[in-house]
Amino acid sequence: MNNSVLNRTKEDLRVTVKELSDTYEELSLLYRLTEEFSGLGVDEICRLLLKEVTSLLDAKTAVVLFLGEEGDHLYTKVCFGDWDRNTTFRCKDNFLWDALHKKRTITICNTNDTGREPSNFNCNSVLIAPLTGKRKTIGLVMVADKTSGDAFYSGDMKLLTAITSQAALFIENAMLGQEMQFFLTGTIRSFVKALEASSRWTAGHTERVTRYAIALGRLLGLTSQELEKLRIASLLHDMGKIATPKEILNKADKLSDDELFEVKRHPIVGAEILSELKGFTEIIEWIKYHHEHYDGTGIHGLKGEEIPMMARILAVADAFDALTSDRPYRKRKTLEEAVREIKNSTGSHFDPKVVEAFLEWVDSSDDVISSDPEVDF
Ligand SMILES: [Fe+2]
Repeated sequence: MNNSVLNRTKEDLRVTVKELSDTYEELSLLYRLTEEFSGLGVDEICRLLLKEVTSLLDAKTAVVLFLGEEGDHLYTKVCFGDWDRNTTFRCKDNFLWDALHKKRTITICNTNDTGREPSNFNCNSVLIAPLTGKRKTIGLVMVADKTSGDAFYSGDMKLLTAITSQAALFIENAMLGQEMQFFLTGTIRSFVKALEASSRWTAGHTERVTRYAIALGRLLGLTSQELEKLRIASLLHDMGKIATPKEILNKADKLSDDELFEVKRHPIVGAEILSELKGFTEIIEWIKYHHEHYDGTGIHGLKGEEIPMMARILAVADAFDALTSDRPYRKRKTLEEAVREIKNSTGSHFDPKVVEAFLEWVDSSDDVISSDPEVDF
């Protein structure tokens, strides 16, 4: 074999090894992202996507743009770097056409040369990749300006396309999950409203307890998935009262022992009714134990950490609303009186950690007892 042939073979081999190495790195990256995207919500996936692309592409700015409902504009969903959150684009803007309609990653240089809108979109080097799921195009990912000042090159474009394609599938799934979640909570809300209509004393109780429980859950560091489950548990926590006679729920006098027993059964009855719902095992447990006492003196005798955390949160949220609402047999307590009662029951009835979060929430919130329970959902 002469020298020139040998050199060519060596070069071919070097290129092949480089390509194999790049492919391996890309596959490893996609595998890692698949793991990281799993189970995240839409915003979390978008944030992680931007974190990855800005780091891998050495970019100053990155933004996820979602298609608006009418499909005629793109709005900023999540952004990183120096970007105005209110920035929107019209879908008919020429420079977006290939990315949106031909589903191709495109590159642009000097956006301010061409007078494109919006006028604050001034970058030297830009990559735009479509976020295309299995069913439809969700939006675009735009990455602007390398910190080095260089222009993006073909390797950057390839990497952005690969990451964005992967992320789009997860975003689409998360959106589908979100839609199902809205449908589920909407159905539950309608059901609960029908239940509460039977007694004016309990009207709005469920929505308020849900609002309080979510506020406490956030302060206790629950994840977005845990908060969603807590929301469903809160909406359903008093479902068992459907079996409590109306005369008892509306009774203005002190309840007899038998009547009190009927009322106290509602967590058990609720758990029984809901046991038909497959996949709600945890939530049913929380509902069943939402009136347990931290010191073990409740109906089931569970103590401390034996009581599920969500049930301990529900207990405080539920008690706070009961104390600050009128009942047929007593007037509502003031905020200060209710806080004092909850404080006095720390360690006996309530988990000290949850009460600590409750006190922090009361101190930091302007509208603790909101007249509009729908706020902040
Ligand atoms: Fe209850």
